[in-house]
Amino acid sequence: RDDVESRGLGDVYKRQTCYLLIMQKHFRLRNALFAGLLLAAFGCSSHTHPTTDFNVDSAIAYCSCQAIKTLETLPDVDSIPNTIDKGQKKWQYAHVGSWTSGFWPGTLWYLYEATQDTVWLHAAENVTRILLPEAYRKARSHDSGFIMMPSVGNAYRLTGDTMYAQALHHAADSLAELYNPKVGTILSWPGMVKKMNWPHNTIIDNMMNLELLFWSAKNGGNKWLYDVAVKHAETTMKYHFRTDHSCYHVAVYDTLDGHFIKGVTHQGLADSTMWARGQAWAIYGYTMVYRETRDVRFLEVACQSADAYLRRLPEDMVPYWDFDAPMSPLLPPKDASAAAVTASALIELSGYVNDEIKSRHYLDAAIAMLENLSSSAYQSGTVNTAFLLHSVGHMPRGREIDASIMYADYYYIEALLRLRTVNKGG
Ligand code: GLY
Repeated sequence: RDDVESRGLGDVYKRQTCYLLIMQKHFRLRNALFAGLLLAAFGCSSHTHPTTDFNVDSAIAYCSCQAIKTLETLPDVDSIPNTIDKGQKKWQYAHVGSWTSGFWPGTLWYLYEATQDTVWLHAAENVTRILLPEAYRKARSHDSGFIMMPSVGNAYRLTGDTMYAQALHHAADSLAELYNPKVGTILSWPGMVKKMNWPHNTIIDNMMNLELLFWSAKNGGNKWLYDVAVKHAETTMKYHFRTDHSCYHVAVYDTLDGHFIKGVTHQGLADSTMWARGQAWAIYGYTMVYRETRDVRFLEVACQSADAYLRRLPEDMVPYWDFDAPMSPLLPPKDASAAAVTASALIELSGYVNDEIKSRHYLDAAIAMLENLSSSAYQSGTVNTAFLLHSVGHMPRGREIDASIMYADYYYIEALLRLRTVNKGG
């Protein structure tokens, strides 16, 4: 069987990549010691600015080592790794169709892209196949983009198999059925309409899912999907942001005349605070919308969102789960997932900004984020088989606090691949 064969090959691969990793770590350590001596000699203090020796290949090799270990422990292909709670070693699995279920296949696709090793190709294909039927179901929420693009989207990008394209078109058409033209946005959570009395609710996360609509419109699907995505981005730009360019998590609109009722939170600390991952979705989402439209209004929102986020970061460039979380009596948990999403977005954004200083600022910030996420403070290597520690899923519900979460790993490896491309001059 494919997966058994894959695991056998995986052993060889693991030994090779782990050896490579150890060698690279050795050289990194030597460089770090040398840099430390220089700092001591010249009386400089250490800071979080990126050093030029951040080794992307070593970080990708680390991801391979960790993922092989995860792959080996999975009882079957239906078990989709999702989270590892603080202090635990075992993955909890995602339900097929839950918003996080596309990130493990997405991570496998990125590992295949990074290494061209068919171990990852087979593993990615096997788990992506399980998600395909989801594309043909009626969209239950805005999350179909999160489910489809990392898994099926990457599958199509890397294999060109039309079976994947068909599924993406279906999922995009279905997602667009949640669009309300009176409001000009997609309804994110139908389940919250009655439960929270949020007649038409749109969450900032929804920006991410516009990528599925753009993809379909661009690849032979319904052209109207492009207009829906643009209108959603315009409406969100108008109502979702405060004057300091931080964003609400949820915007509530009237269903009939479409007026904006209020901005509230669901996963942040309070309605008025800056929930770290929400702001990260805004940066990533508007960067992607600029890529798809080349409309400078969206580039401006991406930069403004990024600046609001960067201004308030702590020293290690990894935000607390909410930027307004109280700092005492204990420091609040960090959210590595927000850092990974933002690092990936900033690498792309730096390529769109004409001002060279600003562009370098975004790229340097992204590298510093990746460097810190690649340090022992955030790497899971000695603790569990995820890539990263210290993410927060849903603080108000007390779920996944200071945990390893698959979407943090997904955006981390995506960011590493993007940086590798930039380093190669791409
Ligand atoms: N999209 C849900 C979250 O970021 O937690």
